[in-house]
Amino acid sequence: MKNFVYQNPTKLVFGKGQIAKLSELIPKEKKVMITFGGGSVKKNGVYDQVATALAGHQYIEFWGIEPNPSVETVREAVALGREHGVDFLLAVGGGSVLDGTKLIAATLGAREKIDPWSIVQKGFAPEAIPFASVMTLPATGSEMNSGAVISRKETNEKYAFGGNYPEFSILDPETTYSLPSTQIANGLSDVFVHVVEQYMTTPGQSRVMDRWAEGILLTLLDIAPKIKEDPKNYDVMADFMLSATLALNDMIQMGVTQDWATHMLGHELTALTGIAHGASLAIVYPAMLRVLKEQKHDKLLQYAERVFGITTGSEEERIDKAIEATEAYFKSLGLATHLSEAGIGEDIIAEVERRFTERGIKVGEGRNVDGKMARKVLESCK
Ligand code: NZQ
Ligand code: ZN
Repeated sequence: MKNFVYQNPTKLVFGKGQIAKLSELIPKEKKVMITFGGGSVKKNGVYDQVATALAGHQYIEFWGIEPNPSVETVREAVALGREHGVDFLLAVGGGSVLDGTKLIAATLGAREKIDPWSIVQKGFAPEAIPFASVMTLPATGSEMNSGAVISRKETNEKYAFGGNYPEFSILDPETTYSLPSTQIANGLSDVFVHVVEQYMTTPGQSRVMDRWAEGILLTLLDIAPKIKEDPKNYDVMADFMLSATLALNDMIQMGVTQDWATHMLGHELTALTGIAHGASLAIVYPAMLRVLKEQKHDKLLQYAERVFGITTGSEEERIDKAIEATEAYFKSLGLATHLSEAGIGEDIIAEVERRFTERGIKVGEGRNVDGKMARKVLESCK
């Protein structure tokens, strides 16, 4: 196990009716800006619950943080926040609303008046004003981590940066009942790939991290068909929400190497074509496994046995079956697993290769996913 420091300061407030707790979780003297997406919260009653809870607080609202939040929108929110002297942000919505809010918080918290894109370019925000969330979509884990992914429409770029953690996040599984099936599928894909990006690497680093990761993967395989059957089953949606949080709140990455090559490729596909994040991962991940199966050989065997119960056949056959089972999981969610199904062609493959090479990107636990390898992976899921 490698050395590590673990500190996650986010308070998780979980369960039915917990949005009402906002009134006590946010100090009365704070000047709050509540940030929203495109309006889903007005239809499902979440907005009303938030407004009721904060009736005694001073707050303004900012609407319109879009999926794959853009720096252009963040600039507008920063201007409004500065104008009103805002000193606390509350994101209400999915991962995009929260990620956009993390960048607003970092920009408003910076000592000097800076442009938010400079924070994204630097990749790290040392300061931020406090922020929190009411999360309505299980997927990103953003509710309990310090990362955010921001797009720049002008140049079709998309990058992650790290900064502060939310002060608290409220997760009420009932808020997920209004999710369209495509968002549920994208979320189930994203959570699965978060786990494997921290698991499918070097074997034998930590028994407890392995078991924890396998526990989340097994939970996802168990709940995915149940969610399809009944997306308003409270207990199943509660496990979905908690799995999303645990998959990316630093808990399964203690002392182990990480991959993230699939995410880097997926972000480029989204930046260039607009494909949803979870959908991009469902295409890239099985291909990544096919291309890197030698490198990931031992962990793939462990995964085959412990996650899919594959114990018969030669090592090669077991590994191939595990990769097929992984692809079958994404397909069972109704997601495409080939670029052609998503209308993505050779021009995009060439551009992703060019960007990886130009930026000198080398990702994955072996630091060997570069431009050439990116092409190989994308060729393998054409
Ligand atoms: O905008 P509104 O109207 O709220 O609608 C949203 C949006 O259209 C809708 N939605 C959210 N909750 C709903 C709902 N509709 C009905 N009922 C509800 N309860 O869902 C749509 C998609 O929302 P979005 O926030 O974009 O989805 P998600 O949570 O999957 O976030 C995706 C973004 O997060 C980034 C992705 O790259 C992408 O930009 N990621 C962030 C990470 C992080 N911060 O740690 C890690 C991830 O790997 C990921 O990269
Ligand atoms: Zn993700």
